[in-house]
Amino acid sequence: MEEERIVAGEIAPGEEDAEATLRPKRLSEYIGQKSVTDNLKVFIDAALLRKEPLDHVLFYGPPGLGKTTLAGIIASELGVGFRITSGPAIERAGDLAAILTNLSDGDVLFIDEIHRLHRSVEEVLYSAMEDFALDIIIGKGPSARSLGMDLSRFTLSGATTRAGSLSAPLRDRFGVISKFEMYTKEELMRIIRRSAQIMGVGIDEDSLSEIASRSRGTPRIANRLLRRVRDFSQVKGNGAIDLAITQKALDALRIDRLGLENLDREILLTIIHRFKGGPVGIDTIAAAVGEDKATIEDAYEPYLLQAGLLHRTQKGRVVSDLAYRHLGIERPREEGRQLSL
Ligand code: ADE
Repeated sequence: MEEERIVAGEIAPGEEDAEATLRPKRLSEYIGQKSVTDNLKVFIDAALLRKEPLDHVLFYGPPGLGKTTLAGIIASELGVGFRITSGPAIERAGDLAAILTNLSDGDVLFIDEIHRLHRSVEEVLYSAMEDFALDIIIGKGPSARSLGMDLSRFTLSGATTRAGSLSAPLRDRFGVISKFEMYTKEELMRIIRRSAQIMGVGIDEDSLSEIASRSRGTPRIANRLLRRVRDFSQVKGNGAIDLAITQKALDALRIDRLGLENLDREILLTIIHRFKGGPVGIDTIAAAVGEDKATIEDAYEPYLLQAGLLHRTQKGRVVSDLAYRHLGIERPREEGRQLSL
């Protein structure tokens, strides 16, 4: 069985309701991603002025940064319906046709993990996005028939963790393409403060700072850690969150000062001990730690890179001086080392 990963950016099973109560509903409540939201606000206002649907928007970036939340906010701001699905959930072209024909004018259709759409499904999306037309073949062989039909003028909002995995024809049909960045510590502190208020739990500044530092730049992780710290404060403390209980809870969850968990540390230690700190290729790292290459690339590496613990070079991944210091390991002096990372 797969071990539950507390600092995963992906949503955990059963976590949906807890997340939903913390999700901001309006743009004014949304914290961070300023360059994305500033632009969107203009496009939303323009669409409202012209009484037209908003252009199709693509969000990309690591999981847990609020892509779904922002798509929902777009629908609220436009005052239209919001329908959520995901690439892997749409198995056949007919499934997509059923969703598309049920949309009303202006509605926002959100497709998460849009890079995982089946090819045959993706092709139906092209004419739907471009001409609001459904163009679909039903049946096979001699009885196959083509079905054409007009659709409501909807907005497609796609989200992906890998913009590079999207086919060019699909990518080109998005009028707005926005990259989500990891959040700063200050933004995470504001998000946690707001969440604590909604949850009705008292929390001091030091605890906000501590949880934010260990949340890997990711609001979903920040909110998850806040819920776990609250559990500790209720069971082992007096219900209010202070620094002592926060540290106790986070240490018990084995999340270190920088938000690293075991596999993060294992990746860094493997590169240090087995490959002299790198450079080493991602395939070799994956094999050495016994993890899937894609999992390392999508779920672990982005934060290690962002935190400056790992660097990507032409020759492979290299562990930084900061990582050596963080792990308390002395970097061996190397003859002729030219690069100080
Ligand atoms: N909860 C999760 N993401 C958020 C964000 N960007 N702003 C406010 N609350 C959030």
